[in-house]
Amino acid sequence: MRAGHRAAGAAVLNQPDRIRVELGERGYDVIVGPGAADAVTHMTGKAAERVAVLADEAVAELHGDDVQDRLRDGGADVRLVPLPTGEGAKSLAAVEEACRHVIGRGFERGDIVVGLGGGAATDAAGFVAAVLLRGVRWVALPTSLLGQVDAAVGGKTGVDLPEGKNLVGAFHQPMAVGCDPAFLATLPLREFRAGLAEVVKTAWIGDPELIGRLESDPPGDPDHPAVAEIVRRCVAVKARIVSEDEREGGARAQLNFGHTLGHAIETEAAGRYRHGEAVALGMVAAVQLSVETGRCEEALLHRLIRLLEALGLPTHDSELDPDAVVARTHLDKKRHGGEDRYQLTLGLGSISVARDLPEGAPRAAVEFLRRPLSRA
Ligand code: GLY
Repeated sequence: MRAGHRAAGAAVLNQPDRIRVELGERGYDVIVGPGAADAVTHMTGKAAERVAVLADEAVAELHGDDVQDRLRDGGADVRLVPLPTGEGAKSLAAVEEACRHVIGRGFERGDIVVGLGGGAATDAAGFVAAVLLRGVRWVALPTSLLGQVDAAVGGKTGVDLPEGKNLVGAFHQPMAVGCDPAFLATLPLREFRAGLAEVVKTAWIGDPELIGRLESDPPGDPDHPAVAEIVRRCVAVKARIVSEDEREGGARAQLNFGHTLGHAIETEAAGRYRHGEAVALGMVAAVQLSVETGRCEEALLHRLIRLLEALGLPTHDSELDPDAVVARTHLDKKRHGGEDRYQLTLGLGSISVARDLPEGAPRAAVEFLRRPLSRA
């Protein structure tokens, strides 16, 4: 990480962008671009006596020493606390272990937690920060595309239960987020592509011109020259939505586009899909539902499918069990007072909540996902 930044040289000429999440006294900058990790670690190392770096253990192997050195440069006493890799970080057991580790090192309320890793690691680290000593400051250093464009921005923290994802959590805003392209260079290709699903989601919601850019020049890997710009544009959309609606009372629910069925598919498929891959399927189902219920033109469904396929994402799965997937959405329904809530689309840049879907429509949308040939 560091060598790359020094070679880019030019700390003064090549400053990363700062995108503000406007939340009054809880507001913060998302720092995006080359040098973002250095900027965040520099600031963090000076801001606390102790810093606990809660890191996905695979990511810690790659970036843990560098991040810790940078934090120490600021004068902090720094400890690395490994989290299980990937979704394994998002359990109450992992959170308990991390809390005990941090407390055992004499952590106090003025100290800072750093979440280092993909979306799962930053979700779990943020949750540790939310509950430890009744809440301490934290910063996020997302190392996956999905983390940079979505999970680490906006203060949703939490862990999963066997019953479903993100069922235990808290809104707890970080004091800064650093989205550094240097982290993406080491990202496995499958993870990168999974992150592109959240890019498509975000662009669909709030930056339709970016959909056109992705169509004309689909980024095939993290070295693609457009990646830094894509991250910046997605963060700008997300920051705008979170600034408007921190706690998902309204506008923020748009960010769940593709997630009602996507989450259910992810849980039901029991490890076959990365989160972003399941969201890709969930978006196809959501747009199919939008077409079926007369909300949007069928051409847009085919456009979405073509784009997702160009990005290497799944758009159909003949193994899905529609009844099982729909049954999984009922936890979501319970959370909303017994009401089905699907984020459907009226077109690019337009998402609206549907509460009145015809009986059987979600099942038909999952059935659609099972049949690749019906979409020519
Ligand atoms: N990932 C959706 C949200 O942050 O609201």
